[in-house]
Amino acid sequence: MLERSELAENALHSLHDEDYDLAFNTQNLNANTMIFTGGRKPRSLDGDWNFCVDLLDTGLRQKWFNLVPMAPEDRTEPWDYDPYMGETVPVPSNWQMLKEKWYFFEGSAWYTRSVDMAPLPANRRRFLRVGAAQYDCKVFVNGKFLGNHYGGSTPFFVELTDDLTPGRNWIMFCVNNTRTLDRVPMRNTDWFNYGGIYREVAIYETPATVIRDMFLHLDDAGNISAQITVDGPADSAHVSIPDLGINVAMELRAGKGSCSISAAPDLWSPDSPRLYDVTVTAGPDTVSDRIGFRRIERRGTEIYLNGEKLFLRGISVHEDDEILGKVTNETDLRRRFADAAALGCNFLRLAHYPHHERAAQIADELGFLLWEEIPVYWAIDFANPATRRDAENQLRELIRRDRNRASVVIWSIGNENPDTDARLDFMRGLADIARQEDPSRLLSAACLVNHAKLRIQDRLADYIDIIGLNEYYGWYEENFDELALIGKNSAPVRPVVISETGADADISSQGPANGLFSENYQSDVYRRQIDTLQTLDYVKGISPWILYDFRVERRQNIFQRGRNLKGLIAGDKTTRKAAFGLLAKHYASRTEAENCK
Ligand code: GCU
Repeated sequence: MLERSELAENALHSLHDEDYDLAFNTQNLNANTMIFTGGRKPRSLDGDWNFCVDLLDTGLRQKWFNLVPMAPEDRTEPWDYDPYMGETVPVPSNWQMLKEKWYFFEGSAWYTRSVDMAPLPANRRRFLRVGAAQYDCKVFVNGKFLGNHYGGSTPFFVELTDDLTPGRNWIMFCVNNTRTLDRVPMRNTDWFNYGGIYREVAIYETPATVIRDMFLHLDDAGNISAQITVDGPADSAHVSIPDLGINVAMELRAGKGSCSISAAPDLWSPDSPRLYDVTVTAGPDTVSDRIGFRRIERRGTEIYLNGEKLFLRGISVHEDDEILGKVTNETDLRRRFADAAALGCNFLRLAHYPHHERAAQIADELGFLLWEEIPVYWAIDFANPATRRDAENQLRELIRRDRNRASVVIWSIGNENPDTDARLDFMRGLADIARQEDPSRLLSAACLVNHAKLRIQDRLADYIDIIGLNEYYGWYEENFDELALIGKNSAPVRPVVISETGADADISSQGPANGLFSENYQSDVYRRQIDTLQTLDYVKGISPWILYDFRVERRQNIFQRGRNLKGLIAGDKTTRKAAFGLLAKHYASRTEAENCK
């Protein structure tokens, strides 16, 4: 007879326990546990991790994380998975892209690897950073549950100072990408539900005093505002910007300090993306970043960059790749910006969730303006406090991750949400948080047109700076003439950005020659959109949907076959459709007109 262990008894008990997961949903890994990583040296944990899918959460029920490494022949109990051996997957990756059998898998999956650690010197700390895991990521170290993180596109941190021991340690993640009624986004999205740990994983070692956050921006008076948050003993922090001859100290109270520094930096702009090396020290800790200083403002219905009127010549992009899934890399990102440049863009809408942090860093360097957003998308359980906490945390994490990026000029808090009282209350809360976290940027959301009254009418407009408008006249709305009517019927007191418009085009050999889903039809929609939009003087930017075709489960007609084909470039990220040239020509003419002013 096999000896019955406590674990075995638990395995039996767990068959009848449907509250098995409650203890593992603390969501204690959140915006408040982030540390600043600029200038720190990461120890990468990327590479092969042991992996298995776990559709019924057998791992949490049987507590696989309590298993200790052992040769199979020495095991005395017949476990349903041994985390210390078996199949492996590369991190970062989306499991759907690795094996056909996982393409539509939605559930939990386990990642396990060993990490050999040297003894931690006195007065040092260790933090684990996960760049992104879709959606719920539970962390176990040497069999101990340390917490979990909700949100599929923002980084999170776990302090491991007291949990990693000298020698071999085991780290396990249980990642769950199930779409549920209380998550953000909810169950229904027009993008593929990739799962897994799909951005970099690393360990950082810091002094006992660690700089958790630094935020520098140009304030309304044209001075550099610096805010620092420190965890650990330190009475002051120092900010150094050598190229501006700045080296100032600020007092820290309860770990926080701020100051306004008189300076006259060369202002960052798409034409002159000037970045400054910034170093911040607090006690023994030092971090750094490359920051551009600029001013983005709204005055009435105009957008101003550094005091000059701005029109946003944009394009929308998803994080999606035929091979990589939602994983991105330097080549993929730089190709995206090169294609946007070829279109004549100065602006990209990074839809519908926070993209990899490298996107904004590269945009800073190349000189693109960005709209970044959280996935408060379509239907959301707006009345659910847990959902609200999740959305608010994702917003804080996005803003704290990217608020030193000059390229980011707009935070967007929603996309095509129904205009209900619960939604308005939820979104007003998000708007307040965004402004608390970052008063230096504009706020937007992609709203819907009031098709009954044919006018721009969304109660959220009163709480944001820029009204994003998704309109698909010529595609979902057949009566194109209504678009111009909306213009006449509306008198928005804020700038409007057409945050989406477009049409599908299948340019494969199966694609139609004419009519819906043909390249000709997409071109015709772009011609008519461009002709109409340029007559609407309250439109201060457009970001048509979308740069590349992308994967999505819900589109299965004979042309789409699991893709959204509104790309101006096919899913190969190479083959341009005719409408690409039409938009590029329009942007070139706009640029020429602006240069002639
Ligand atoms: C919507 C939505 C997008 C979607 C697009 C489409 O506006 O915001 O996420 O992909 O329309 O229908 O193609």
